[in-house]
Amino acid sequence: MRKPIIAGNWKLNKTNPEAVELITQIRRDLTDVSKVDVVVCPVFLALADAHDVLLETNIGLGAQNLYWEDSGAFTGEVSAPMLKAAGAQYVIIGHSERRQYFGETDQTVNKKIKAALKYDLTPIVCVGEVLAERESGKAFEVIKTQCQGGFAGITAAEMGRLVIAYEPVWAIGTGKTATPAQAQEVHQFIRKWLADTYGQDLAQTVRIQYGGSVKPENAKELMGQADIDGFLVGGASLKADSFAAIIKNSLSAA
Ligand code: 13P
Repeated sequence: MRKPIIAGNWKLNKTNPEAVELITQIRRDLTDVSKVDVVVCPVFLALADAHDVLLETNIGLGAQNLYWEDSGAFTGEVSAPMLKAAGAQYVIIGHSERRQYFGETDQTVNKKIKAALKYDLTPIVCVGEVLAERESGKAFEVIKTQCQGGFAGITAAEMGRLVIAYEPVWAIGTGKTATPAQAQEVHQFIRKWLADTYGQDLAQTVRIQYGGSVKPENAKELMGQADIDGFLVGGASLKADSFAAIIKNSLSAA
């Protein structure tokens, strides 16, 4: 059985004091999180403060990006060992906003995954098609290309340490969620790709999150799908009550 994993991607939101306040509220609202891995992903700057507030909880901490070199003349970047030292355990890689606005490609995603794994950070690797690709029937092809490029050279053992997030770009921040059937179809496709590439046993262990307008109201039904193992939540993770309700409702489906 795959343990569900629900992560909040805070994107470019929350100052350090606001991040501390939100985590304090999440700690209060989440009494039992033993059946699900819960992760919060604040901005780089708030990681160390967040880490302090998360001590003695089983809520995990993730970053939203990293650079693949350990150190050097790369102004403005943050590396895997730096994230590790700040207390991060996870790192989101290849989010569609990074692909769209910051020139990220399957090749840079691949380098970042390798850097994260080297420092024992769990990569949460995002894939997903844009609306035009879905409407022209190319969604599966796009996902396959992203997986082949992003996971090039990743061994089965390494793949077992990864989390994949399927985020249809047309569902992000739009209020337009993929239907449970639409999401399940792609999750199943990704798991089949994993099985074809790494074998059925490994494919059954990899957790695949759904992301895109996840709310307390749709969490249960999405989570009830066979190949959906949790969520990467944007907007609804910025309020403790809605994030906690998503976790609670998901557990009622598991
Ligand atoms: P929303 O939940 O705001 O649609 O964002 C999803 C997302 O991009 C999470 O990474």
